[in-house]
Amino acid sequence: MKIKSLHINHNILLAPMAGITDLSCRLLMRPFGIGLAFTEMVSANGLVLGGDATKCLLASEPEDRPLGIQLFGENPATLAEACRQVEAQGDLIDLNIGCPVKKVVRSGAGSALMQTPQRVAKILAAMRRATDLPLTVKIRAGWDQTSINFLEIAHIAEQEGVDAITLHPRTRIQGFSGTADWSLIGELKRRATIPIIGSGDIFDAEDAQRMSKETSCDAVMIGRGCYGNPWLAKNILALQNGKSAVEPSIEERRKVALHHIAIFLRYNSERKTVLDMRKHLCWYAKGLNGAAQFRARINQACSIIEMRTLIQHFFEHAAMATAEDS
Ligand SMILES: Cc1cc2nc3c(=O)[nH]c(=O)nc-3n(C[C@H](O)[C@H](O)[C@H](O)COP(=O)(O)O)c2cc1C
Repeated sequence: MKIKSLHINHNILLAPMAGITDLSCRLLMRPFGIGLAFTEMVSANGLVLGGDATKCLLASEPEDRPLGIQLFGENPATLAEACRQVEAQGDLIDLNIGCPVKKVVRSGAGSALMQTPQRVAKILAAMRRATDLPLTVKIRAGWDQTSINFLEIAHIAEQEGVDAITLHPRTRIQGFSGTADWSLIGELKRRATIPIIGSGDIFDAEDAQRMSKETSCDAVMIGRGCYGNPWLAKNILALQNGKSAVEPSIEERRKVALHHIAIFLRYNSERKTVLDMRKHLCWYAKGLNGAAQFRARINQACSIIEMRTLIQHFFEHAAMATAEDS
């Protein structure tokens, strides 16, 4: 797949997810077959004001490529300046037109932009003038069910020189409830002349295959389906190549969980690692024997040593219980 000049090896993209897809998560996921990953959304205002916390979101490594940098904001000049500031640090710049979070929407950014098409045009024109990197947008279906306008926003994006569009076909009001209406991705693909990326509700490899088939989208973007499941990308690739999806063994889950902690610890303090890794570890344990008890314990863990010990015990017992069951 190609987005402007950028070649992407696999048409499986890792979604930008604030609080989830930080550098360590991206480094963990990439070897499983991710063709393009994105930073968490980065505030253009924060960047231009020089905020350290905002700049941290741009942390990357040579093996964390190709990388899309996702910006959010509402002011054309600020977003253009943010493009100039980040363009040496990534391979593509994406504008967030989908975030439903109240604080973001109140400022006129994220999914609020679905309600202001003229502003979108001004922002994209300014961003396009500011950078030669591939420029993409990530949009929702519309603000609410009575204002489904993704085709209008997509048309504006194409006219302003955007190189690809990701559609998460839910409205802002829906948030993450209900189901993503993939037929809208198909509709956009039929109308658009640039690559279309489908996002929403891909939880297993079969889902990705169905989305590709039903919509003819150029790439699929995986989000929550990766929680505790970096094997999702590998299994999508397997199906694409006519092979079967293979579920990871309990031993493999244990190894990857420990590896995730090790990568996270490279970039973060022990305290932050313990707090942030709790959710990931609960996801790795999901569906296994004793997962509820493990969740309760891991959420009380105060050190890395304690976490590693709990992981060791949990996965050993889960493996034994599974062996006894079969
Ligand atoms: C915790 C979380 C954080 C997210 N953060 C972002 C973000 O920073 N930028 C963005 O464009 N979308 C964000 N999204 C939306 C996802 O990129 C994706 O479009 C959405 O979750 C639908 O895909 P899924 O059903 O595969 O998760 C976020 C979603 C979740 C669940």
